[in-house]
Amino acid sequence: MKKDKYVVAVVGATGAVGREMVSVLEEREFPASELVLLASERSEGERVGFRNRNLPVKKLAKDSFQGVDIALFSAGSERSLKFAPIAVGSGTVVIDNSSAFRMDLKVPLIIPEVNAHAIEKHSGIIANPNCSTIGLVMALKPIHDAARIKRVVVTTFQSVSGTGKEAIDELAGQTVALLNFKDIEKKVYPHQIAFNCLPHIDSFLENGSTKEEMKMANETKKIMEDDSIRLTATCVRVPVFRCHAEAVNIETEKKLGANEARAVLAGMPGVVVYDDPSRNIYPLQLETAGKDDVYVGRIREDDTVLNGLNLWVVSDNLRKGAALNAVQIAELLIR
Ligand SMILES: NC(=O)c1ccc[n+]([C@@H]2O[C@H](COP(=O)([O-])OP(=O)(O)OC[C@H]3O[C@@H](n4cnc5c(N)ncnc54)[C@H](OP(=O)(O)O)[C@@H]3O)[C@@H](O)[C@H]2O)c1
Repeated sequence: MKKDKYVVAVVGATGAVGREMVSVLEEREFPASELVLLASERSEGERVGFRNRNLPVKKLAKDSFQGVDIALFSAGSERSLKFAPIAVGSGTVVIDNSSAFRMDLKVPLIIPEVNAHAIEKHSGIIANPNCSTIGLVMALKPIHDAARIKRVVVTTFQSVSGTGKEAIDELAGQTVALLNFKDIEKKVYPHQIAFNCLPHIDSFLENGSTKEEMKMANETKKIMEDDSIRLTATCVRVPVFRCHAEAVNIETEKKLGANEARAVLAGMPGVVVYDDPSRNIYPLQLETAGKDDVYVGRIREDDTVLNGLNLWVVSDNLRKGAALNAVQIAELLIR
């Protein structure tokens, strides 16, 4: 795929991720000759700013992809399952942000800093990993390369923007209502999210875990190309607007001291070691919002196992967890 300029489409352009995709395409000066913005009929005629212009949003339809070179999909699995094959049939390469194709053996699942080479095998669809998986794997990869990871225990603290724009409104609305002694409205989550944490992200499976927890385990193995890594996750939704934090416990085959771990993490592109507890320096969700890098702190040894490490990892779910990673995949495609 070599051209001077590309026709790019964003499917789900009015959503939390879609809007961020448009911003990231502009910020990184992606060589787009045209940007086609697609969403549901609810948004038809709405406008989204791109390069000093307000572009109209069109309704997603079967003929939306004529002449489109690259489509960034971010409108949920149902839309991806239906429209991604149609787009591929029109000659478009699809970068899909939903979970629809992530575990499909024919579809590469890419974090450019980790497994860029896997993009070679694509046949029209490339999947973007789950937002909590991306932050985690960015931190695991250099540790795996240095000391081989055997097992990971991760607990996530995931922001409401990970659910989308309606969830952002729900947290804001409930917070305002409660501080004004009014009743709250619950539409997105089964329980109050304001001033509360919900150990429940995506639906529950027969094994007692949620789909989100299993996505983290399965996607990590696929991206790291190592089925031997055992990973167990507990995913928690917290009343934070933006950025996912993760408490990560790792067991490695070889010993990796805290200082060695700090050094290998610091050498990983896209990772920033932010770790000086004596000065109260550790990654925070509020400070990481809007940033591209994955921040790692609280790096310390866990002496309850032979070779153990603890980390605290924070990344912006809308940027590296979604839009930025998708645009980086598009950049790989045209490289
Ligand atoms: N939020 C995150 O951090 C994150 C991270 C990784 C992956 N993802 C994935 O990205 C996707 C979007 O997430 P989001 O958080 O951006 O959700 P969102 O804020 O709810 O936005 C959903 C987008 O999809 C569009 N859409 C919904 N139904 C549609 C239909 N029938 N036809 C065409 N467009 C339709 C919406 O258009 P209207 O405005 O017209 O309704 C909107 O643009 C999901 O698959 C999600 O799993 C999200």
